[in-house]
Amino acid sequence: MENLEKIVGDALQQFSRIDDATGLEQAKARFLGKAGALTNLLKGLGKLPADERRDAGSRINAAKDRLEAALAQRRDALAQVQLDARLAEEALDVTLPGRGAGRGRLHPLTRTQDRIEAIFRSIGFDIADGPEIETDWNNFTALNNPENHPARSMQDTFYVENKDADGRPLLLRTHTSPMQVRYARMWVEQFRHAAKVPPIKVIAPGRTYRVDSDATHSPMFHQVEGLWIDEDVSFADLKGVYTDFLRRFFETEELEVRFRPSFFPFTEPSAEIDMAFGAGPNKGQWLEISGAGQVHPTVIRNFGLDPEKYIGFAFGSGIERLAMLRYGIHDLRLFYDGDLRFLQQFA
Ligand code: FA5
Ligand code: MG
Repeated sequence: MENLEKIVGDALQQFSRIDDATGLEQAKARFLGKAGALTNLLKGLGKLPADERRDAGSRINAAKDRLEAALAQRRDALAQVQLDARLAEEALDVTLPGRGAGRGRLHPLTRTQDRIEAIFRSIGFDIADGPEIETDWNNFTALNNPENHPARSMQDTFYVENKDADGRPLLLRTHTSPMQVRYARMWVEQFRHAAKVPPIKVIAPGRTYRVDSDATHSPMFHQVEGLWIDEDVSFADLKGVYTDFLRRFFETEELEVRFRPSFFPFTEPSAEIDMAFGAGPNKGQWLEISGAGQVHPTVIRNFGLDPEKYIGFAFGSGIERLAMLRYGIHDLRLFYDGDLRFLQQFA
């Protein structure tokens, strides 16, 4: 029986060191199981003299109760540790700041268009807006593109299946030039009874569409149309106004610009305007930014004006192209990929 104190001491020490439930049940078996140390002592009671048996029996049972109680306490402690660990793992720190929705910013093409509008507004141009689904008449015919004339195929067109109310073909406008027709006719109508039609001075930015796709052509792109008609607006004014716009848009006097003779059915003479990249991987390379010219007499007549009296210029510039040159971007498809690493650079 001198063993009893040692067994109890060993058991309590082992229980307190074990930190998992399975280990605890194994330890319980070592002391209280069928072949456990305490059970063996109980089995040995029969060999004791009768006068010692009762006392020894009650001491062993008291030791057994003590171990059972210690086991129960240890089980609870282990369960509590496990629960605490799980709670810590799943904890939600309500004092942390929220993730937020992130701050949006304007797309570089929107910024470019805003810039163009601000510059032209400051020199007296009105800003107009028109439909992207156009009549074949506004997009081509009124602009002196005769039916079946090869010039129509200069711009590969997306046609729309429906026709307009008068049965005329509809298409996605291939340029913003139909806005010349819409705006000028609206203007002339407005001053139908006036002695003189006041000068037409407008830009019309917006989306345009062509069957076209590579690093400098997108099937959907943006143009800005410009139109200035009065009694004495010349090709020299076109050069002056446009060069002045470019100086302000690029914020430099050192522009590499060339006016290259070209052809459009709706202008005569006609030019295309090229600019050299000042920065980026394409530095020094020329990029066409615009078509332009003196408005053709047939188009002036389609505006409802007398070409003997009214004269002026028009231009149609690519907004993506202007943005590419300003920011040194070599591929206009980057504007449409929606890649935040690209877009976030335009703060
Ligand atoms: C025209 O569209 C004429 N309407 C411009 C014009 C207006 C001439 C008024 C005279 C008077 P052009 O096809 O060259 O012309 O296009 C004008 C500009 O739009 C080009 O210089 C280029 O900057 C841009 N552009 C044309 N096609 C695309 C395209 N697929 N993707 C991106 N930009 C384009
Ligand atoms: Mg061109």
